[in-house]
Amino acid sequence: MIQLIRGFKDILPEETPLWRHIERTATALFEDFGFREIRVPIMEKTDLFARSIGEETDIVEKEMYTFPDRKGDLITLRPEATASIVRSFVQHKLYAQKPVHKLYTIGPMFRRERPQKGRYRQFYQIDAEIFGDGSPYEDAQLIFMLVTLLERLSVTDTSAHINSLGCPACRPDFKAGLQAFLADKGQVLCEDCLRRRENNPLRVLDCKVPACRDAVADAPDLLDYLCDDCRNHFDTVQRALADLGVPFEVDKRLVRGLDYYTRTAFEIQTGALGAQSAVAGGGRYDGLVRALGGPDQPASGFAIGFDRLAEIVAMVQNDLQRPPALFVAALGEACRAAAFDWVCRLAVAGVNAEMSTTERSLKSQMKQAHRLGAPRVLIFGDDEMARGEAMLRDMATKEQQALPLEGIVETLQTILMAK
Ligand code: HAM
Repeated sequence: MIQLIRGFKDILPEETPLWRHIERTATALFEDFGFREIRVPIMEKTDLFARSIGEETDIVEKEMYTFPDRKGDLITLRPEATASIVRSFVQHKLYAQKPVHKLYTIGPMFRRERPQKGRYRQFYQIDAEIFGDGSPYEDAQLIFMLVTLLERLSVTDTSAHINSLGCPACRPDFKAGLQAFLADKGQVLCEDCLRRRENNPLRVLDCKVPACRDAVADAPDLLDYLCDDCRNHFDTVQRALADLGVPFEVDKRLVRGLDYYTRTAFEIQTGALGAQSAVAGGGRYDGLVRALGGPDQPASGFAIGFDRLAEIVAMVQNDLQRPPALFVAALGEACRAAAFDWVCRLAVAGVNAEMSTTERSLKSQMKQAHRLGAPRVLIFGDDEMARGEAMLRDMATKEQQALPLEGIVETLQTILMAK
């Protein structure tokens, strides 16, 4: 038997109602906040990700599914959606249409990480981005929208962590301070960090190797290096969140694993999934649109780990399976043929009815109806046919009601849709 690829997974029919519930809840909320859907390809030129996420990040160095296509061009299965959305935003000059764009997308991403609970090689993200508004209020609104979504999904055991990563004006000072701090840590840092220490020391703060984590425990804080503009921006984000009643924690160690961030960075963390604590992450990335060939446009956004969110929501909501509204228990070929016609016509009218298409005893069909969770069964055998009726049985109260065959689909529709 051929099995699926390690780190990939099927989302089975018993899980999809939950996924769709999350998707519907998220899109309805996002649309109320003025977001519109965009769909971008799942493959892009490798350069796009290298240039936006950053050459020295774990994602680009170790995790991307990159391969030459048949002509030898390097292409990559997208590890995230932001780079593609920025590419699309720039390529189609969306910025020329109106000053602010709010976009969302939902789809699969690919990272070749070590698979474990909550971490997959193909996973899904619900991604939201705002272009054209550099205000701290937008950052607060993104976090508020995220927290509201979690509330609507009854996910409570989460906390919002925020930090500021500075801007091109103040980050070089921090970089120099951090490099000075790391100068005598050569003995303990991992090979990647030794390299990153030179060009991109912020990445050392993000390293998952325990020795590196210990080594940076007393590293300088970015927040102490913020310029006045960044400090004011961060203060306003915090004030806006407090005014909106969103609890948050300032987390000085939060640097995020992608290079494009400026100023606000945030994560929603949970204790529910063991080591994989981030359900969502995001932040501001004011330089990326320009870096990818567009105008100087501020931007910020986030992505939710859909798989992780679904795992958490499954712990609190498990009643999303939709049973059929009716089971038709037909006995004998003539009755079965009529029942088949009713079942098809009910489906067209928006009512899910099920039946057995092979000959089975009434007892066995009642069992099947029970297993499917159908609240009503329509019993139709030769006797009923002779009387010109079918018997509708309520499975909970055991009450029975004779329905005339004449116009039975419409009658059923009225009864079943009323509930
Ligand atoms: P990220 O932090 O790399 O950010 O990913 C966002 C979320 O995707 C994570 O918090 C996590 O829930 C989920 N995730 C990441 N990797 C995996 C995995 N291997 N398996 C399961 N879930 C995973 C970004 O991707 C940015 N593009 C977010 C953003 C949008 N920033 C600005 N705009």
